[in-house]
Amino acid sequence: MLRKTCRVCAKALSPFMSFGKMPLANAFTKPEHLKDEYFFELAPGFCTSCFTFQLMEQPDPSHMFHDHYAFFSGTSQHMARHFEAMANDLRTFLTDQQDPLVVELGSNDGIMLQHFARLGVRHVGVEPSENVVQVARDKGIQTVCAFFNPQTAEDIRKQHGPAQVISAANVMCHIPNMQGVAKAVDHLLAKEGVFVFEDPYLGSMIEKTSYDQLYDAHVYIFSVHAVHHIFASVGLTLFHVEPQPTHGGSMRYYLCRTGQHPRRETVDHYLHREKEQGLTSLATFRQFRQACEQNRADFRAMLQAFQSQGKRVVGYAAAAKSTTVLNYCDIGPDLIEYIADTTPIKQGTVTPGMHIPVRSFEGFYDNPPDVAVLFAWNHAKEIFAKEKHFLERGGQWLLFRPHVHKLTA
Ligand code: TYD
Ligand code: ZN
Repeated sequence: MLRKTCRVCAKALSPFMSFGKMPLANAFTKPEHLKDEYFFELAPGFCTSCFTFQLMEQPDPSHMFHDHYAFFSGTSQHMARHFEAMANDLRTFLTDQQDPLVVELGSNDGIMLQHFARLGVRHVGVEPSENVVQVARDKGIQTVCAFFNPQTAEDIRKQHGPAQVISAANVMCHIPNMQGVAKAVDHLLAKEGVFVFEDPYLGSMIEKTSYDQLYDAHVYIFSVHAVHHIFASVGLTLFHVEPQPTHGGSMRYYLCRTGQHPRRETVDHYLHREKEQGLTSLATFRQFRQACEQNRADFRAMLQAFQSQGKRVVGYAAAAKSTTVLNYCDIGPDLIEYIADTTPIKQGTVTPGMHIPVRSFEGFYDNPPDVAVLFAWNHAKEIFAKEKHFLERGGQWLLFRPHVHKLTA
C-alpha cells in the first residue's frame, strides 16, 4: 500500500511517478531459492511542507538487514580511504574532550570505527546484521547487534555515558522512523556533542538522473532543506554541511544542540542553492520522471543495438543500485549475459527480479566481452584504473548515467 502522508510531518505526500513492482535490491538469490521472491511498489513521493523526498511504500526492515545481508563496506579501497578521512574529520570534534565516546549507527564491518579503536578511543558500533557484526567484533570493534532506536540509545548511555560524536554513513536514509531516530540521538548525545551523518544527496540524484539510488533500503533521499526540518523538531540544529563524492554525490550533515556550535555559512549557501535547483518544488520531480523515462528508452535501445550486432554484453559489479535500473528498464539475461562481481556470496546467485547470473571475474578476464555495463559507476575512477586492459583490447564501457553513453579507447 502506498502511504499518503509524509513520514516526517504527516502532511499529504505528492506522488509523481512509479517505477513499478520491485524486488529487494540486495536479494541476490541462488536460483534454487527463487520461489518466494518478494516484491513491493517502488514509488517516490515528495512532501511540499517539509521538503522530504521519500518512498511511498517500504518493506519491513527485517526483510532487508538480516543474517544473509550481502553488503560489506570493507570491500572497496576507495571507501576505506573515504572512511579514514571521515574518522579524521570526526576527530576534530574530540579535541579538548576527556575520554570521549564515539557511537556509529550502522557501523557495518567497522570500516570507520576501526580508526578510533586503533587510537584507543572509546567507541560503540550499532549494527543490525549479525554476520557483519561478527566480522567487526573479530577486528576488535565494540559492536552492539541492534537497530538504533530510543531503547538502544538508552542502553548505550547507561553503560557508556553520553556520546560526544554520533555518526552514520549511508544509514539514516534507511530508517523510516525519523522521529524515533531523532529522539534516540537526543537521548544519547552529550550536551556539546555532534551528530554527523551522510547519505546520497537529492541534488546530485536529480542533477545526474541517478534513479538507481532509489530502492527499498533508501526510504529517504535527503536534502539540506529536509534535514533542517526533520531535526529542528527535537532541538537539533544543522550547523554545517559538506558535499561528498561518494555514491555519485552525497551530503554530510553536522547537527548539534541549538547554540552549541556556530552555524557555518555552508548551511545558507546550500539552502539557497537548493531553492535555485528547484529541490523544494514538485515541478522538478515531474521533470525527473521524464528524464528517467528517457533514460530507460535509451538504455534498452542501446542494448538491443548491441544484441543485433551480435556483441557480447556483461555487467560490471552487481551493486544493489543495479536492481532498480534492471527491473525498471526490463533488462534480463537476454540482453546482459551475466554480471561479474568480486563479492564471494553474490557469486553463483542471480540478480533480484531479472535473474541475470552473477559470477566471479574469472570469465571476464579469460574471455572478455565486447561491452561491459558499469553498474558500480560510483567507483568508476577505481575501476577504470584497474581495468585499463579492457579498453586496450578493444572492449567498450556502457554507462547509463547521467545519460546512456559508450566509452572506447
Ligand atoms: P556499491 O557501489 O558499493 O554499492 P551498492 O551495492 O550499495 O549499490 O557496490 C558494490 C558492489 O560492486 C559490490 O557487490 C562489489 C562490486 N564491486 C566489484 O565487483 N568490483 C569493484 O572493483 C568494485 C569497486 C565493486
Ligand atoms: Zn513532510
